[in-house]
Amino acid sequence: MKRLRRLTARARSAAPLPVMALALLCGLPGAAAAEQEAQAAEGGSPTVLITGSNRGIGLAFAEWYAEQGWNVVATCRRPEQADDLNALAAEHANLSVELLDVTREDHIRDLADRHAGQPIDLLINNAAVLGPLPEQSLGGLDYDRFEQTMAVNVYAPLRLSEALAENVVAAGGKIVAITSGVASLTLMSRMRGMYFYRMSKSALNMGWRALRTDLKPRGVAVLLVSPGQVDTALLRESGYTGEALTTEESVAGMVEIIADATLDDPGLPINVDGRVLPW
Ligand SMILES: NC(=O)c1ccc[n+]([C@@H]2O[C@H](COP(=O)([O-])OP(=O)(O)OC[C@H]3O[C@@H](n4cnc5c(N)ncnc54)[C@H](OP(=O)(O)O)[C@@H]3O)[C@@H](O)[C@H]2O)c1
Repeated sequence: MKRLRRLTARARSAAPLPVMALALLCGLPGAAAAEQEAQAAEGGSPTVLITGSNRGIGLAFAEWYAEQGWNVVATCRRPEQADDLNALAAEHANLSVELLDVTREDHIRDLADRHAGQPIDLLINNAAVLGPLPEQSLGGLDYDRFEQTMAVNVYAPLRLSEALAENVVAAGGKIVAITSGVASLTLMSRMRGMYFYRMSKSALNMGWRALRTDLKPRGVAVLLVSPGQVDTALLRESGYTGEALTTEESVAGMVEIIADATLDDPGLPINVDGRVLPW
């Protein structure tokens, strides 16, 4: 069985840690399960749509929700090459793999047409790019690369969320964007460069606050969640060599934050450990 279950089993046998910390790190049955039970009791499993589901954090989200019995629409830009995701789909009849390059307007339109009228309980805007570091360092800033980064990390989540807003309204659901601590002015350290990635995540944060203002009156919770430092290709590309969470650990924390989020939350970026990230 999956690594997630091993983590959960390990958590259950680890006595000294506080229960909340264990639940956060290891996804013990909690609010997420209770929420899903309530929704199932009202008729049918909830639906989640995830971008960039073929690897990294997106793949772990897809696995977690599939294991919990959600209907998972796992999107990616090259389904024919998404071996891990296709293997997951083969194990879970409740997971479908669908084409979505988030920068392609026609892909977004086709996806919205295919799902027209279907309630979506949770939309997770996960796909993003870091981009090559030399091209986003002072003296070598490449503005074509900046545009590409903004297209994936900022324009795409907004465009997709706008296209699927009625689906989420129909479910009284939630729209999540995955942000990053490197977007924070307060936490801005002496770490240099990464202009485009940092600026894209800061812009995403502000866009999400604006989206929240529009969609809260329509019953949709709009939230920003940061995964912490997670062992993925993106983190390795950044040159970071310190400690990192596994994708399963990060997702186990984020799904609890997402499940607990309410319409009245202030919409600030929440880190995987539950802390509010300062602007
Ligand atoms: N890892 C960390 O420490 C960390 C920290 C803070 C925030 N985050 C955020 O967490 C999220 C997931 O990142 P990750 O760490 O899992 O990175 P990753 O392993 O590099 O995965 C990125 C995902 O985004 C997809 N993607 C990129 N461009 C796309 C496009 N145009 N259309 C559709 N999908 C596209 C990739 O698909 P392809 O395989 O087709 O390229 C891949 O599935 C991102 O929003 C990232 O900014 C990560």
